Amino acid sequence: MKIISSVAELRDHLRGQLRTAFVPTMGNLHEGHLSLMRLARKHGDPVVASIFVNRLQFGPNEDFDRYPRTFAADVEKLEKEGVYVLFAPTEKDIYPEPQEFRIQPPNDLGDILEGEFRPGFFTGVTTIVMKLFSCVQPRAAVFGKKDYQQLMIIRKMARQFALPTEIIAAETWRADDGLALSSRNGYLTDAERAEAPALFRELNSVATQLREGHLNVSLLEKTAMEHLSGRGWKPDYVAIRKRADLQPPTAGDLATGEPLVVLAAAKLGSTRLIDNLEV
Ligand code: PAF
Repeated sequence: MKIISSVAELRDHLRGQLRTAFVPTMGNLHEGHLSLMRLARKHGDPVVASIFVNRLQFGPNEDFDRYPRTFAADVEKLEKEGVYVLFAPTEKDIYPEPQEFRIQPPNDLGDILEGEFRPGFFTGVTTIVMKLFSCVQPRAAVFGKKDYQQLMIIRKMARQFALPTEIIAAETWRADDGLALSSRNGYLTDAERAEAPALFRELNSVATQLREGHLNVSLLEKTAMEHLSGRGWKPDYVAIRKRADLQPPTAGDLATGEPLVVLAAAKLGSTRLIDNLEV
């Protein structure tokens, strides 16, 4: 695997590659990321991964400085997956001058759910993803459903800018007890790690009730939040939304069986976890 940090060298190395499949990451790779690499291989060749902890998508009080950086271990894992190029730019490589041009997601998608609690987050994500796409020029790029809203926003961005990159969705990788794998799980204490699967259990309970025809959406959301609070969590939201646009379903949508997704974000101790489940 070739490790490249400069944009110019990356372009040289990938010149003429028309079927590149790309997996952007912020490193601290776990089995979930590696499943994205395997999926990428099915959609193109060569597979290119990137590791870049993108300051633009972190708020001033978020965990940019303490975000886990495990480069040597990540390289070993990617080597084993047969990744062809690892693009690992420094901040100077990616932002040699202040990034004044930004990609602004539409408010109705970018300022709800995660965007409401992490202002500017999706602008930071779409700006770096657009820039990485411009460096790698992939035919396909893989994003996990764990970050459901991110996936939807990037899909829409790719469509509206007519990018030549197919956006591929990967299923969430879970531990045996149901907890979605995430780099932030590493912040959990042993006791919190034991409690953490309760978030997915709550999503499952909401999804089951919806499937059984309990269609009082706001009551289901409120009850799920109360359950989590009762167990010591600080929930930001549990939200039942339409998969198509992440807007709340109307009575008509519920009656016609519009595909739904339940999304949640909640703090356990000082760690904020997110998860979702399609209904
Ligand atoms: O999901 C992530 O790890 C990041 O948001 C991404 C897509 C690599 C952009 O920094």
